Amino acid sequence: MADKTEQDYKTEMVACLPAVLPPDGEAALAMVHPDIIDKSYCCGLRYPDLLNGIRVLSLGCGFVRDCYVLSKLIGQEGLVVGVDPNDHVISFCGSFLKYHRKTCGFSEDNIRLVKCEPDGLIEAGLQKDYFDLICFNTVLGLTQKKREIMNQLGLVLKTGGEVFFTEMVASSRIKEEVKKEQSLWGEGLAGAFYFEDLVTMAQEFGFSTPRLVQSTDMRIKEPELENFIGGVKFSMATYRMFKLPHDRVDQTAVLVYNNPQMDTDYVNVIKLDSRNTFQKGAPVQVDAETAAILRISRFASVFKTTREKEGQVSEPCPTNPFVAE
Ligand SMILES: C[S@@+](CC[C@H](N)C(=O)[O-])C[C@H]1O[C@@H](n2cnc3c(N)ncnc32)[C@H](O)[C@@H]1O
Repeated sequence: MADKTEQDYKTEMVACLPAVLPPDGEAALAMVHPDIIDKSYCCGLRYPDLLNGIRVLSLGCGFVRDCYVLSKLIGQEGLVVGVDPNDHVISFCGSFLKYHRKTCGFSEDNIRLVKCEPDGLIEAGLQKDYFDLICFNTVLGLTQKKREIMNQLGLVLKTGGEVFFTEMVASSRIKEEVKKEQSLWGEGLAGAFYFEDLVTMAQEFGFSTPRLVQSTDMRIKEPELENFIGGVKFSMATYRMFKLPHDRVDQTAVLVYNNPQMDTDYVNVIKLDSRNTFQKGAPVQVDAETAAILRISRFASVFKTTREKEGQVSEPCPTNPFVAE
């Protein structure tokens, strides 16, 4: 993937996705060397919260801005592994490790960079059941090897771990003749997932339903291209999905968010997805899958179950970015 300017893109909005940042995200971003920021692809800044001390895989880490931001957010005790198939990307970014360590006040690096394809994680030596979180921006849409990548993600992620990702998704399947156009693969148009297929594939590889966190409609700039693509709509969508145990017992429940460790504004509200937001101390009845996520993932440390509940459940989180909520 070569460096691109906004004018090079065939879709609008690619360059200015709204950020999804934890409260300390801005401060973490400010620690990243300006040369890294300059080089980064314009994929938006999107990171989940509750990251302290965890192991993160940054898949297709590109010019590693995300690794450096995540490194600060996870702190000295955590680890970020950045993988990218691009040789020059890895070597360029590695040269800023010392600067970053000093700026963050870390005694040791908590970043490792590995050159590897996103479907070759195990082959490259990454451990199975190792990561708490996998983050990426526009990786699945660049390749036909979506199943192979999903499989690898399921292998390296711990049970209870999360995949937090942003991809261009489509309102229907992309036609074969569009997929044959090499020039349409670069920014993820030809490889965009039909969102229903994304949901089905994620579940097939053992993940929970991908939950829509946020999405932005994309517009094709050229009318001829729009015609060729055949009326398919595109959205840049951030999802999160979790690896849950196969033998879990699903049960709706009333949970309350409470974070006793950090009594600051940071902990007053936590947003899981576009449907589920939790105010500190306020009990919320959630559907069975949401209950499983909050009890099994890293969120378990800040949620308490107040009651198991039969009967009426909250609506599941949406997966379709093409309907107005
Ligand atoms: C859109 S960039 C995102 C980079 C970075 N996470 C960011 O947000 O700035 C996608 C990255 O995936 C890598 N990548 C992974 N698989 C790829 C593939 N099959 N074709 C092209 N690039 C691929 C590219 O090298 C690139 O760095």
